[in-house]
Amino acid sequence: MDNRARHQAILITGANGEMGHGLIHALAEQNVDLVAVDLHPLDPALRSKVRAHQAGDILDTQLMQRLVSQYEVTTIFHLAALLSTRAEFSPEIAHRVNVTGTLELLRLAHQQSTWSGVRTKFIFPSSIAAYGVGGKKDRLQALKEHEYTEPTTMYGCNKVYCEHLGRYFAEYYQQLAAEPIKGGVDFRCIRFPGLISADTVPSGGTSDFGPEMIHAAAQGQPYACFVRPDTTIPFMAMPDGVQALLDLYAAPEEALSQRVYNINAFSCSAQDFCDEVHKYFERPQVSFIPHLKRQAIVDSWPAAVNDAPARRDWGFSPQYDLQNAFSDYLVPRISARYTSS
Ligand code: SER
Repeated sequence: MDNRARHQAILITGANGEMGHGLIHALAEQNVDLVAVDLHPLDPALRSKVRAHQAGDILDTQLMQRLVSQYEVTTIFHLAALLSTRAEFSPEIAHRVNVTGTLELLRLAHQQSTWSGVRTKFIFPSSIAAYGVGGKKDRLQALKEHEYTEPTTMYGCNKVYCEHLGRYFAEYYQQLAAEPIKGGVDFRCIRFPGLISADTVPSGGTSDFGPEMIHAAAQGQPYACFVRPDTTIPFMAMPDGVQALLDLYAAPEEALSQRVYNINAFSCSAQDFCDEVHKYFERPQVSFIPHLKRQAIVDSWPAAVNDAPARRDWGFSPQYDLQNAFSDYLVPRISARYTSS
């Protein structure tokens, strides 16, 4: 294959998702060529930001190989996944998408690097769902990456395993080959807390109670929160999540002392969200009707995580806490969104 025949591009899977939206906007400003893949046709608002977009399944090998016959993929942001609540309704499908899909993309990344001789960057979002601390008092401590990684959901199991798969591809894949491998996969992973975007509403997750409450209040709609008021987990405003992806992507490989990094912005409870919503929106109608099984999932996640390695190695430093996330980001943008629609 003559590499000069192909245009260099960054591949983004799950492009229509919440994180895909933010990331495509941010990368488009860096003037890089993006190829976006999603199960559904790309959101028209994103189309002018990418060089190419393709509706289809990441498990469709022909589709993915057709893409790499056209583009030399230098980096993959692999965002496609079935989230924690949805995955419990169809665990085997979730496993196929979340694990087999990731394996196929790691192979594709490796294949790309053998042609170019340059390591293909593979940026992977993992999640606080990788933890399983249910009922233990340690859920109140800021957990390090290796502590309590015995998740209770298919999504969490998938994420922990894919963290290992990525590490394996980066360090051991084809370790018995006679010739040393040129290139390889430069796997980098962030364990995200619950993310809150002003521009999109999540679907299928279990941290969704926070963003759902805010978007409902902004539209004057009632919201029945599916966890108890005291339920506390780490959260982050989407711009900080996107910036973290960009910062980890840009970091020199030698600065990275590990492949999987926790990041945290603020820990808050469902009641804290409710209090903020009352400050900014007129007569929000929030009730608490815990769904015991979804509650148990959230209770299996830590209330805080230790993100010292991310701060030290690649300068992670979130801009938003709970208060300024509401005052400076969520309320202005969400209000504009619903008044203009
Ligand atoms: N937002 C994810 C979920 O709720 C957790 O990272 O599934």
